[in-house]
Amino acid sequence: MTRTRCDRTPAWGALQTYFKHAGRAFDLRAAFAAEPDRFAALSQSAPHVFADLSKNLMDGATQELLFELARQTGVEQHRDALFAGAAINNTEQRAVMHWLLRTPARAPANTPALAAQSAASPHLDDELRQVHSTLDAMLAYAQTVRADAAITDVVNIGIGGSDLGPQMAVLALDEYVLPDKRFHFVSNVDGHELAVVLKRLRPESTLFLIASKTFTTLETMTNAQSAKAWFESNGGSDISRHFAALTSNVAAASAFGISTSFGFWDWVGGRYSLWSAIGLPLAIAIGPAGFRELLAGAHAMDQHFRSAPLEHNLPLRLGLLDVWYRNFHGLGSRSIAPYHSALRRLPAYLQQLEMESNGKRVDASGDALPYGTAPVLWGEPGTNGQHAYFQMLHQGTDVVPVELVVVKQAKHALPGHHTLLLANALAQAQALMVGKFDSGGHQHFPGNRPSTVLLLDELTPASLGALIALQEHRVFVSGALWGINSFDQWGVELGKVLAKDVAARLHSGRTEGLDASTAGLLQRLRT
Ligand code: F6P
Repeated sequence: MTRTRCDRTPAWGALQTYFKHAGRAFDLRAAFAAEPDRFAALSQSAPHVFADLSKNLMDGATQELLFELARQTGVEQHRDALFAGAAINNTEQRAVMHWLLRTPARAPANTPALAAQSAASPHLDDELRQVHSTLDAMLAYAQTVRADAAITDVVNIGIGGSDLGPQMAVLALDEYVLPDKRFHFVSNVDGHELAVVLKRLRPESTLFLIASKTFTTLETMTNAQSAKAWFESNGGSDISRHFAALTSNVAAASAFGISTSFGFWDWVGGRYSLWSAIGLPLAIAIGPAGFRELLAGAHAMDQHFRSAPLEHNLPLRLGLLDVWYRNFHGLGSRSIAPYHSALRRLPAYLQQLEMESNGKRVDASGDALPYGTAPVLWGEPGTNGQHAYFQMLHQGTDVVPVELVVVKQAKHALPGHHTLLLANALAQAQALMVGKFDSGGHQHFPGNRPSTVLLLDELTPASLGALIALQEHRVFVSGALWGINSFDQWGVELGKVLAKDVAARLHSGRTEGLDASTAGLLQRLRT
């Protein structure tokens, strides 16, 4: 079966009709009153993650129609194509196999899904061997760096997927991070960022990791050149000891003068590359065993996504809900509220995942889409967001579904804090739903505002891996329903090309052919 775009299925029309009759006027409070088992019916366990979906604007009939939509669009077949290594990134003719990076080296004989996959796609055995030989080499290197007391600072130079994943994860897993090394992440071409880091470093105690899939990205190459120049002009001499590259372009890294490289493959998209050599800073920080646990947690979620039936498949249910909100309720954004301060970079990470993957206006065949795709994703850790923008979530004119990531066990021993944190998470979701009547207006909370709680028992490498894989797969599902290619990013190209031209003009002062605004600003910057 081939993919069918969501709007070309009978289920799409049925959902539109259902939305008009029962969806628009749906009331969560009435639903809870009428359905005593709503919490149980609309919660879902998956590896390391328990999801409460019950405070979402849907009833059983909505779910059934959404499941039908999934069947009619062929999402499960598309998922199987992903896991078979098919070239589903059709505009670049590439397979999409970040999941292979977390597949165990030897499939246990009693795992039928993996055995079947292996039989169906024998070429993946080779890829898997390469994955594991690179992983072993990278983790051995990580261990050497960890044991090297002379290296006190590790600086990751990379941007986008070569920065956000490892940075988010090193912060998230702070409890597991080696205490005697400092980790720095430099991404911006703004020299302020690199300069602030460099002034605290000494060449002899610093390891620079140059992380770039392509090894051509302007920001990363500019920062890498400046780091190298700083290293050499401050007495550093042994580039092979103090620089390593994480890249699929090993030739460019060696042309740069780097002899230690860890490679990966064109079938790993930048925003899906945390599991590859791009994860090296994390592997140094939490150690090889911790990194393998992260991979194992993600793999457990892969197995859930591959094998759980549609009705009990968490990434599928979340992706369907995303489409329900975006295309039927017409909601343009989703807010993510991690109730764990170590997850403070999770919103930024998820922004790239969702918006670079599904921020597309054409389908996989290049035809313009008549419906909205990626929502704007945004957020801050709770409880901080409560004292900033939650006002708008409770009483603003727009309804924003909120996703709260809640962690049951704290790793600190400070009395009282964690209960208050958990209480706030639950209270916010409760307040969004129940609201509060006030005839005067200003103190009226309309309520009926949707939220999802993703509950982890603990924040560990394994649960973080599962949480991230869950998010990857839910983005896959909504992208599949929308009929788009979630794995290219042509939209970033134009700005890159124009920046080169503008940089040349900032030097020369030439403004011919520019629009009046760009020309005017350029002149002001030159005077
Ligand atoms: O410009 C967007 C992008 O290509 C992202 O997709 C990617 O994660 C980032 O730039 C960095 O790319 P690279 O790893 O090749 O330097």
